[in-house]
Amino acid sequence: MSSTTGAAVSSASPASTASNAHLPVHVAIIMDGNGRWAAARGLPRVAGHRAGAEAVSRCLRAAKAKGVEYLTLYAFSSENWRREPTEVADLTSLLKYYLRHKVAELHKEGVRIRFVGDLGRFGPDLVAELERAEALTAGNAQLTLLLALSYGGRGDIVHAARALAEAVQRGDIALSAIDETALSARLLTAGVPDPDVIVRTSGEHRLSNFLLWQSAYAELVFLDTLWPDFDEASFTRVLDIYARRERRFGARPA
Ligand code: FPP
Repeated sequence: MSSTTGAAVSSASPASTASNAHLPVHVAIIMDGNGRWAAARGLPRVAGHRAGAEAVSRCLRAAKAKGVEYLTLYAFSSENWRREPTEVADLTSLLKYYLRHKVAELHKEGVRIRFVGDLGRFGPDLVAELERAEALTAGNAQLTLLLALSYGGRGDIVHAARALAEAVQRGDIALSAIDETALSARLLTAGVPDPDVIVRTSGEHRLSNFLLWQSAYAELVFLDTLWPDFDEASFTRVLDIYARRERRFGARPA
């Protein structure tokens, strides 16, 4: 479990392992539009979040079927704590429900689950459930699902900077050894390749504090689809858009 309040993490992000350069190794998604989906139907916001949880299952199925290795979903941002307490409680309950009812199934399907964020804010009971889910699925290799919970990209970088400062203070590393690899190795996503593509649904064009360091060379895909309507066809569309992009990582075209 990678929590900003937890112990420092190690190991640098490996390079992309894609054998097919047109298939992203790591897809990350900002799941947006639950509230608008519910409002359009005259339903409470929680109904949108429930429908959003079903979209999570469809998205996971699609990612696995297509051979994507890492799927990161932004389920709760560090700023989402500012929402009405009832909505925060609804989202927390939904997460608990999802964990209780889906983890066994995900485990059977070979999905490894990891959580990234300031997880301690959810309280010891939920943290214990998150730890159990991670431990149960730790040996799985089909697909790694990273759920970003109480996650913020700036907080992630601050946490890594602090871990580096402490390592220098302890004498574990030299100041001159601080480089991009050393910082990446202390992010909550340590060991996970940077996302190849970041998707945001609902027509908004922002990163909203998601994977700020890790997104340096990610392709950005914005869909008008509201998250609860996201399905296998939407996932295929993302892959098609990605496959048509030319990635140069700052190099000049050949
Ligand atoms: C943004 O839509 C969505 C969220 C803040 C929560 C995302 C949660 C889920 C998809 C469901 C729970 C997930 C799991 C893994 C069980 P919004 O509410 O900001 O929508 P709006 O912009 O239309 O109001």
